Amino acid sequence: MLGRFDYQVPVRVIFGAGRVSEIGAIAKAYGKKALIVATGTSSMRNGLIGRLQVYLSVEGIQSEYFNEVSPNPTSFQIDKGAGFAMEKGCDMVIGLGGGSAIDAAKAIAVVMGHGKPIWNFAAGCVENPLEITEKTLPIIAVTTTSGTGSHITCYSVVSNEETRQKPGLGSPNLYPRVAFVDPELMVTMPPKTTAATGFDVFAHSLEAYTSNLSTPITDLYCEEAIRLVGRYLPRAVKDGTDIEARTALAFADTLAGFSITVAVVTLCHAAAHAVGGICHTVHGEVLAVLTPYFAEFSMKSRPEKYKKLGMLLRNEAVLADKSEDDLLNDGISEILKLVVDIGLETRLNRLGIKAHDLEAIARDTVGYMSGAVALDPRKAGMEEVLNILKEAY
Ligand SMILES: [Fe+2]
Repeated sequence: MLGRFDYQVPVRVIFGAGRVSEIGAIAKAYGKKALIVATGTSSMRNGLIGRLQVYLSVEGIQSEYFNEVSPNPTSFQIDKGAGFAMEKGCDMVIGLGGGSAIDAAKAIAVVMGHGKPIWNFAAGCVENPLEITEKTLPIIAVTTTSGTGSHITCYSVVSNEETRQKPGLGSPNLYPRVAFVDPELMVTMPPKTTAATGFDVFAHSLEAYTSNLSTPITDLYCEEAIRLVGRYLPRAVKDGTDIEARTALAFADTLAGFSITVAVVTLCHAAAHAVGGICHTVHGEVLAVLTPYFAEFSMKSRPEKYKKLGMLLRNEAVLADKSEDDLLNDGISEILKLVVDIGLETRLNRLGIKAHDLEAIARDTVGYMSGAVALDPRKAGMEEVLNILKEAY
């Protein structure tokens, strides 16, 4: 029987190969001069920035370009980007790239709208954080990975190099007005990035599926996203030009994005953020190591969902006639199989994380990431988290 639930995600999705060419016609409703935010120089080298600027200019929109954003964008970079865009008179922000570029674009839109440094808005990290209001400039997302779901969500993850924290800022004012999901932009993604971002989609789907905030709508999205990742991620890692696999993963990322907006993420993402804040690791690579361990920890607290995992990852239609314990263990084996298939690591020490950091990671997990910890079906404190981290090390 269905219980009570709320569901609202106000993002216009423009999905399909070649559709990024429509950005000028759509963006002109939101402003006259755009700041395009990207990470590094690859978008410039492969001509994507130039194409975007042409699509905008034919509709009368001027644009500026800011690429001083790293993976795990920092509060310093965001404040700098906002200062640059304010000087240039930009009135909307386009995030072009993966989660880092889109998260940075969202945060820059906050700083520009409020005229205050981004860290002032970091709830959980500062005393009396400022509220992210409707003064935030309009945000448009153009995703080139599949992905972090950031093109759909109302979150922006910001790292602070001084405090070594990596909180997720959340507000309804952080929703992109429009999200372009064009699988053609994803065919040049290298295999390792495809694997890491693809695993992030899986982790979002699994955590939103098993979260205390899951809804019947997001459950459908998550089940489909898990099926799509299981079926297509190994294919996309093997052959990046496989447009059918790219399209399926872009769709899975979008479904997972809607799901984490409503059902959020749980314990494993809390720990992965804490790892990223301290060790500057690649988000999806950390999740690939941690997910089997945290899933094993939580699975008996929501067995009706976890027992379907193996079936979903193998794209089977019916649950096998096995005991609940066998089905739960089958799910863990399938996750491990996926991790190995896509060439990711299975131990934290292989990611350059130092054993002496584990305690601080556990402390931050249950500290500034406690919101996500509370959504896990199983209660966990610092001791449990530290034990899991040691196991995964
Ligand atoms: Fe994630």
